Amino acid sequence: MTHHALKILLIGGSGFVSGTLAQKALEAGHQLWAVTRGQRALTDGVKAITLDRNDRAAFARAIETENTNWDLVVDCIGYSADDAMQDLTLFRQRARHLVFISTDFVYDPARRMFPQSEQAAHYLTDGYGGKKRQAELIFVNGDADPMRWTIVRPCHIYGAGSLLGCLPEHGRDARLIERICGGERLRLVGGGHFLQQPIFAADLAETILSCADNAAAHGGIFNVAGPDIVESRRYYEIIGEILGKAVEIEEIPVDSYRAAHPDRVSFLCHRIYDLSGLERSRLAVPATSLEKGLRAQVESLL
Ligand SMILES: NC(=O)c1ccc[n+]([C@@H]2O[C@H](COP(=O)([O-])OP(=O)(O)OC[C@H]3O[C@@H](n4cnc5c(N)ncnc54)[C@H](OP(=O)(O)O)[C@@H]3O)[C@@H](O)[C@H]2O)c1
Repeated sequence: MTHHALKILLIGGSGFVSGTLAQKALEAGHQLWAVTRGQRALTDGVKAITLDRNDRAAFARAIETENTNWDLVVDCIGYSADDAMQDLTLFRQRARHLVFISTDFVYDPARRMFPQSEQAAHYLTDGYGGKKRQAELIFVNGDADPMRWTIVRPCHIYGAGSLLGCLPEHGRDARLIERICGGERLRLVGGGHFLQQPIFAADLAETILSCADNAAAHGGIFNVAGPDIVESRRYYEIIGEILGKAVEIEEIPVDSYRAAHPDRVSFLCHRIYDLSGLERSRLAVPATSLEKGLRAQVESLL
């Protein structure tokens, strides 16, 4: 990991993941720019570039006006091949390294490995995961030289700034604490037996920041997941333990749920990952235990 102050530009910067990244980068003493539409406040000390990234001409003009060379650019909100192409066009000559935040939902839930590695993979071709994969391919097949690039594939991200819940029907559930405290039985698809490896947002931020000044990360695609593999139901039980309440779980059958919600198939599989690539490329390996991270998130919500 780098130890000197860097010039970092975030696309995003005031949301859950991007806001956590901004916070971590400022704590490390870096100089920060953030591209947002200005709908939410940025942390003090971040230089705002206010525009909609979908206004491609306005984005190009703003970067031209800024006339800066960044050590690291992080695209926190790239969702399509066009977004990735915009990254290459705008930053190829202006960034030393660009990190694109992808997702573990690029993997086809029906054809996974356990643990899933970045190489031996089958991919979705449409929807959110398929579009992220198309964005990844712009970097893989394009010419970014002399800019270095890295793609990260986080799984379920949790931490302060987001809602609790990692599985339907209690994914990002604004009422989860209230439900558990009220003794309500939780309805989880497959009884919550799917394995997960949630990643604490601050750990993801550290992994992303460790790409800067790291030639070994160039051209790499990395799973980013937490240190603990648990059944999804355990995630809810930990929250119950933090609140001092027992959690009761009712099973929703997987097949009927899948038939009723074809758009949510990516949740209906084990989501566990080979993280050896992070170590091989000397990137920061996530270490916050699920219990510690969930405690911090629950406390932030109470
Ligand atoms: N959450 C998860 O569990 C998970 C899992 C895997 C991967 N991911 C990936 O992680 C990344 C971060 O996700 P997130 O939901 O936490 O995002 P986020 O950081 O909350 O992103 C929102 C940020 O982007 C800005 N923004 C949104 N639309 C914009 C636009 N059109 N132009 C300019 N700025 C815009 C928002 O500010 P304004 O509203 O002011 O514009 C805000 O600062 C995404 O790439 C997502 O696919 C998330």
